Amino acid sequence: MCALWLFGYGSLIWRPDITYCDRVIAHLDGYERRFWQGSHDHRGVPGAPGRVVTLVPNAGAQCAGVAYEVEPEHTRSTLEKLDYREKNGYRPVRLPLRLADGRTVDARVYIGARNNFAWLGDAPLDEIATQIAFSQGPSGSNAEYLFELADALIEIGANDSHIAELATAVRSCLSRGA
Ligand code: BEZ
Repeated sequence: MCALWLFGYGSLIWRPDITYCDRVIAHLDGYERRFWQGSHDHRGVPGAPGRVVTLVPNAGAQCAGVAYEVEPEHTRSTLEKLDYREKNGYRPVRLPLRLADGRTVDARVYIGARNNFAWLGDAPLDEIATQIAFSQGPSGSNAEYLFELADALIEIGANDSHIAELATAVRSCLSRGA
């Protein structure tokens, strides 16, 4: 198998849990990150799903994240692991990524497309924030997922107002207890 490039724009940024040989800040053109995907298996449960990120097409947008290069000997096990971990409505596609070092690579990107079985879509900010603040699943609290992502984006110098505004709204929900 050939080397593989993967694009991390959610938990892969701060919890890759894969074996890689290179990690580079990267941008994906034509998509924006949104907390529009339901999580019934990680940050929520079937009767009370949490919300996690997916990518939504937007011609003028660009999504900042991290590209991982996986060596051929680790490709198969990495794909098996990620296909299982991201089974809740995500499908892998190949898209061109702009790496911060100037290269462009074709990368595997997991996207939960509109109308997949776990799709929740848009909602008012305070509704999304309340759902995230009080959802919990086998992988931990939904708020932790959001806060880890918000911190990781700051660390890589990414400015994502959707994530920053949600983090503020969820902190305020948690401090009010509602
Ligand atoms: C990620 O962390 O980048 C990711 C998000 C959704 C599905 C798979 C990976």
